[in-house]
Amino acid sequence: MQDNSNTILSEALEAISAADDLRTLDATRVAYLGKSGLVTGLLKALGAMAPDERREAGATINIVKNRIAEAIEAKRAILEGAALSTRLAAERVDVTLPARPLQRGTIHPISRTMEELTALFGAMGFVVKDGPDIEDDWYNFGALNIPAHHPARAMMDTFYLHAAGRNRPMVLRTQTSPLQVRTMLAEPPPIRMISPGRTYRSDHDATHSPMFHQCEGLVIDRGITLAHLKGCLMDFLRAFFEMPDLRARFRSSYFPFTEPSMEIDIAWDRKTGAIGGGDDWLEILGAGMVHANVLANCGIDPRDYQGFAFGMGVERITMLKHGIADLRNFYESDGRWLSHYGASPFAPVMLHEERGL
Ligand code: PHE
Repeated sequence: MQDNSNTILSEALEAISAADDLRTLDATRVAYLGKSGLVTGLLKALGAMAPDERREAGATINIVKNRIAEAIEAKRAILEGAALSTRLAAERVDVTLPARPLQRGTIHPISRTMEELTALFGAMGFVVKDGPDIEDDWYNFGALNIPAHHPARAMMDTFYLHAAGRNRPMVLRTQTSPLQVRTMLAEPPPIRMISPGRTYRSDHDATHSPMFHQCEGLVIDRGITLAHLKGCLMDFLRAFFEMPDLRARFRSSYFPFTEPSMEIDIAWDRKTGAIGGGDDWLEILGAGMVHANVLANCGIDPRDYQGFAFGMGVERITMLKHGIADLRNFYESDGRWLSHYGASPFAPVMLHEERGL
């Protein structure tokens, strides 16, 4: 019995020291201490012994069992430590590697221009208004002094939608001017608002897209004159193009909803393409004093209140500011174009005071 125990012990210790991974070690544990292991077999054999013999043999077997168990635990600690070191070595992070270039998005130039419009006019006390893209014919035309069959409707290449159960058609708004009407109907003067947003006309070439963006502006108060219109728009143009001495011309024109109406051109040089000076003119926006009929349609007495309105194409002013030749680039989602013309999300929009204009 004694010899047998000692043999088992020395064989077990040998097997434990030879085990070089946790699985082999566990197999060794099962072979000696498991349910049908060798040491367990010795313990089972005790039952057949005489009481004296059994006491002595039992003590010996327990010592063997404990020594094997201790040896296994000691070896397990060593093997686990080694496994951890191997993993740590494999997962080491080399902090000296150069950083991978960041794939960072940019603000779309149209969004950027609308942010700039909001900041520049915001500094002059204008608030931003929003309205539906699918517009009631009356807001887009009727209330703006453009009656049924007026040629201006044809000029605008309108998308008409026939809405069931309505006696007037719906349109995809051809201009942001319906926001003049919506604002005047919603709140009493004084009003100073701009409304950048999407507009639609059935037109498609290098300078026209069926969906494009405009920005409307409206000021209504007592005693508003053409001088206010001119001062406000000159300040805006000089700040937007970042040219304190930019020249502009106010040229007489026609819109049904303003009287008098004008188009505003900025100076440029046809030969160099440079904006702000030179002997040629580029049309940049439409404007005028709000027509008395429009004020009356919106419940405002034209003898009490006057105002001016203006509207500009967001794509157009963006193309001129950044030298973009083809309007279709705006909608093609070409990553290289967007990362060139897009603005950094971290660059704040500067107000004209901050630019020193
Ligand atoms: N709505 C006009 C257009 O689309 C622009 C405009 C707005 C003109 C406001 C005068 C006043 O061409």
